[in-house]
Amino acid sequence: MKKRILSGMRPTGRLHIGHLAGALDNWVKLQDEFNCFFMVADWHALMSEYENPKELKKNILDNVCDWLSCGLDPEKAVIFVQSHVSEHLDLAMIFSCITPLGWLERCPTYKEQIKELKGKDINNYAFLGYPVLQAADILLYKAEVVPVGKDQLPHLELTREIARRFNNIYKKELFPEPKALLTESAKLTGLDGRKMSKSYDNTINLSDSESEVEKKVMQMITDPKRIKLSDAGNPDVCNVFSYYNVFCPEREQEVKDRCINAKVGCTKCKKQLASCLSDKLAPIQKTRKRILQDKSYLDKILKAGSVKAKESASSTVKQTKELLHFYV
Ligand code: TRP
Ligand code: SF4
Repeated sequence: MKKRILSGMRPTGRLHIGHLAGALDNWVKLQDEFNCFFMVADWHALMSEYENPKELKKNILDNVCDWLSCGLDPEKAVIFVQSHVSEHLDLAMIFSCITPLGWLERCPTYKEQIKELKGKDINNYAFLGYPVLQAADILLYKAEVVPVGKDQLPHLELTREIARRFNNIYKKELFPEPKALLTESAKLTGLDGRKMSKSYDNTINLSDSESEVEKKVMQMITDPKRIKLSDAGNPDVCNVFSYYNVFCPEREQEVKDRCINAKVGCTKCKKQLASCLSDKLAPIQKTRKRILQDKSYLDKILKAGSVKAKESASSTVKQTKELLHFYV
């Protein structure tokens, strides 16, 4: 029996190469080894986007299209939208009864997000419960493994605590305690060196054309001490080099050597990175175009995905409600 995996992404905008390096490339690899559930976390997106939700549907379809273009295979993995499986809310409600407020108030991601999303008012009831819904997402499928980046570890810890508390209170080992599978890839910083994020306008998107990619790479800051071509550079402090490291590791040694020995200027080095990135994006964009030709394709995939997800979700909710003496 393959172990079960669940992971998700919030549909808050177009996907960028940070999503590729931080999640998608990894998800694609996991498809064969695990029984995978990949979910569009639209309820989670609403918690921060509720004031202006008119892009929600577009973002959901756009993101799923990118997932498939990057190599997620609906024959291998269950791909679905969270809100299409209403059991997520059933279980979240049950978990919200057993989750002490203090656990949520103390959660470091809560405080960080409040700070980070300054332009948005997320001081709402739902947002405090973000990790409770995420626990429901995971435990609804009794997933044993959750591939996530480091930033999500506090949520995974809370998921384990909620599972433990539930099993304790109701004296039954209903929920396994899931383990995080850390995405190894170094966190890619944005063009300006800050965290790559749509809200900082420092991303390279999966949909960017060759000329857009080049224009963006040209703006990147390199080793600030390297001014003239004859100055030796230090790749370890250069953001351009960290992109080589993630997206064209086969050229890493060569780039390092010519930087340290002042053989090539930063403009040329950047041009080559841009072309390397565009080569990586070209097949993704080609597949994307093909998928979008059939307007009903994504609908069909997501419908089939939610049917499969619901099979497992409804069985878990049934077990949970029985244990809690619901009148069903
Ligand atoms: N909170 C996750 C993020 O922002 C998205 C998410 C929602 C998720 N539900 C999940 C991730 C369940 C893993 C498992 O990246
Ligand atoms: Fe960075 Fe390349 Fe310039 Fe070296 S040559 S500082 S790696 S851009």
